[in-house]
Amino acid sequence: MWIKVNANIPKEGAMNEALVDGNDILIARSEGKLYCALNSCPHEDIKLTLGCIKDNRITCSLHGYSFSLNSGQSSDSDVENLQMFGVKQEGNDIYIEVQQ
Ligand code: FES
Repeated sequence: MWIKVNANIPKEGAMNEALVDGNDILIARSEGKLYCALNSCPHEDIKLTLGCIKDNRITCSLHGYSFSLNSGQSSDSDVENLQMFGVKQEGNDIYIEVQQ
């Protein structure tokens, strides 16, 4: 099921936050594509929007672990992967895919 997200489309290399069903999510734009993920670092639950995007990965601001925007894969096998969601843009609107 696709849900419309109340967030602006981020600029290249940037992230915006949104709340969907009580979950804090992030919308990122990297290499011209949109990505959506839970806005919570799997390491210690800090907002990933405090970090930065480089080489199509989000790097957490606290300890520097990074997560692939393509797959959510963590840079460290001891840290869980980032939960990702499907995302699409229609006009100026963003939709994310959630499981029911
Ligand atoms: S809290 Fe994100 S890397 Fe530690």
